[in-house]
Amino acid sequence: MTISSLTPRPLIAGNWKMNGLTEALDQARAVAAALDAKPVGARVAICPPSTLLHRLAQILEGSTVLTGGQDCHPQVCGPHTGDVSAPMLVDAGATLVILGHSERREAHGETSALVATKVGAALAAGLEPIVCVGESLAQREAGLAVALVTAQVRDSLPAALAGQAFAVAYEPIWAIGTGRTATVADIEAMHAAIRAQLAAMFGEAGKTPPILYGGSVKADNAVEILGAAEVGGALVGGASLKASDFLAIIAAA
Ligand code: PGA
Repeated sequence: MTISSLTPRPLIAGNWKMNGLTEALDQARAVAAALDAKPVGARVAICPPSTLLHRLAQILEGSTVLTGGQDCHPQVCGPHTGDVSAPMLVDAGATLVILGHSERREAHGETSALVATKVGAALAAGLEPIVCVGESLAQREAGLAVALVTAQVRDSLPAALAGQAFAVAYEPIWAIGTGRTATVADIEAMHAAIRAQLAAMFGEAGKTPPILYGGSVKADNAVEILGAAEVGGALVGGASLKASDFLAIIAAA
């Protein structure tokens, strides 16, 4: 078996965050239609807000575009007002879920230990988790980025992931929604550190999960970022909201 046959297809996932009313579904329709007319090498997913998830999944049924959630609760059901469980995401048509995004770690106080329990719940429901990690600007400037991100990987990924389909997304917090991106050298250094941590945790099985980059990925920087060593795709926020912008990034993968 050659190395390339072990390398999974890149994953380009759109994270709509708390954006999108009914008319946004037209953007997803346009992405699906373009990719069905002209298939690409990458796997493509759209992660809308929960209110659109079921309708989006119905629209994307029969297309190559996957549907994902943006978070899930560790429990299957119960008294958790406002939360959505992993089986509920599956029921609505999701096959992936973003977990541990920095906006949830910061705004909702999510720890890596909590993220790990959510990953376990996602796996139990049959979802493919995209687990986000990333440092703040202050942490990077203090020289703590690699140690911090490596610890996030260690503590956010449960042992149950061994041999399962999952991705890690490296998203430096200071690059999210700011128009700033990490340099290719910084991305490659961090992705190498994450890969080493995955290999330490999962052995052979740690060599294949894609490591996505996220943080102001746009059409004009996608070729450079997606061409960097150990970059197995992208988690795209703002530029995933418009079909033409998202398609331009997908074409770069
Ligand atoms: P951005 O968001 O592409 O708008 O920077 C990325 C993310 O937070 O996943």
